[in-house]
Amino acid sequence: MRVTAASSASASILDVASVLEADREHLIHPLAHPSDHARPLVVVRGEGAEIVDADGKRYFDALSGLWNVNVGHGRAELGQVAAEQMATLAFNNNYVGFVNVPSARLAEKLTQLAYPNLNAVYFTTGGAESNESAFKIARYYWKLQGKPNKVKFISRRFGYHGVTMAAASATGLPVYHRMFAPLVPNFFQTVGPYRFRCELEGEDGPRPCTSPAEHDYAAELEQMVLEQDPDTVAAILAEPVQGAGGVIVPPDDYWPKLRQIADRHNLLLIADEVITGFGRTGRWFALGHWNVQPDMVSFAKGVTSAYLPLGGVMISRQIQDAINSAPADMKFTHAATYSGHAACCAVGLANIGIIEREGLVDRAAQLGPVLLQRLEGLRSSPRVGNVRGLGLMAAVELVDPEAGGSAYYDNAAPLAVRVIQDCTQRGVIPRRINNTICMAPPLISTEAQLARLVDVLGESISVASASLS
Ligand SMILES: Cc1ncc(COP(=O)(O)O)c(C=O)c1O
Repeated sequence: MRVTAASSASASILDVASVLEADREHLIHPLAHPSDHARPLVVVRGEGAEIVDADGKRYFDALSGLWNVNVGHGRAELGQVAAEQMATLAFNNNYVGFVNVPSARLAEKLTQLAYPNLNAVYFTTGGAESNESAFKIARYYWKLQGKPNKVKFISRRFGYHGVTMAAASATGLPVYHRMFAPLVPNFFQTVGPYRFRCELEGEDGPRPCTSPAEHDYAAELEQMVLEQDPDTVAAILAEPVQGAGGVIVPPDDYWPKLRQIADRHNLLLIADEVITGFGRTGRWFALGHWNVQPDMVSFAKGVTSAYLPLGGVMISRQIQDAINSAPADMKFTHAATYSGHAACCAVGLANIGIIEREGLVDRAAQLGPVLLQRLEGLRSSPRVGNVRGLGLMAAVELVDPEAGGSAYYDNAAPLAVRVIQDCTQRGVIPRRINNTICMAPPLISTEAQLARLVDVLGESISVASASLS
């Protein structure tokens, strides 16, 4: 099939069959398995909250790509900013001794938007690299403080922090470990605040907690800090709302308790806001929901709404002061060629300008409860075990009402596969994580688009349930 695909410069004829052949023969995709890639969607265009395939069929982009296209597709303004910056300066060495204008301006802007205690930014090109940098900054900081034994990191099960080697070692999803072991030492995971599926370590494997709603998940984390010896722990790393683990929203007292635990045991608190940053939860950064200030924030995705790759770590003034006053033989020898890339930073600035101008953070705060309330209506299906969300991040967890134990959740994974297939056919693309359907629509989505998302999801759950029974 030959179809017309728009490019920024000109319309060109797209030979879909040859694209698919090139893909099949030469491209290795993230999370690759041929059985999942038998009929890939050839995505050629995006407009607002929709993407368009090579046949011209439109789909509601219910996960904003990969939780990142916050301002929606088709923002020619961002393309222009990138083009102008690229035409002005291809690249500069942004290592110590040099600086480009957009990286300085974006660093300044980010520290105005983030928690008041954060004052400086180290730029990366994505989420995993941001977390790698945060780990190194934490160890570096403790070495400067004369505490070189503080090297361990505590994160949570169902946490996702990227899949480079150390980030994968912090990620609490075994599927990302199995074929790549051994992992990096000194990374430990404890129970996270997953109230719907609260499973604790038992002598013979996981056992359900007796009262998941009241369980003290922060105390579990503190227990692990104590077991590991706080003098050897550098930091706690956690997502404010666990995203790729299945949109797990913590109880309101959880993050204030994490802050207290970090302070009590002299640990750094790192918030991984790669998904939750830049308005996703209805705040610029999500710990604002609970009045907590972390020592570092990892960010990526929404900083450019995915128009170019960019990420980074924001650090407290205290850590910045440590870097600035280090002796020359202990200088901060962390680096990456593209740290502070001018075009990426220029797009980041322009993207933040759009979020501000269009009031998209408030919009997410207003639309989030509307989406959640509609999703609540899906609970009438016995296959819907849980509905949860914060801002424009939401999930519907499917279950097998006839199964007990872990099978209650795990048996519903094939159902979730069918639900996604059916949604896609109907022109809506959410994302499946095991038995959970995750949604993170663009912050510019209309109420009508969100209503349709929920209607389609409900229909797909009915159809898929019927096909399996
Ligand atoms: C919370 C979180 N941290 C880190 C990452 C890794 O980001 P990247 O894929 O850009 O390395 C992700 C990716 O989804 C994420 O959701």
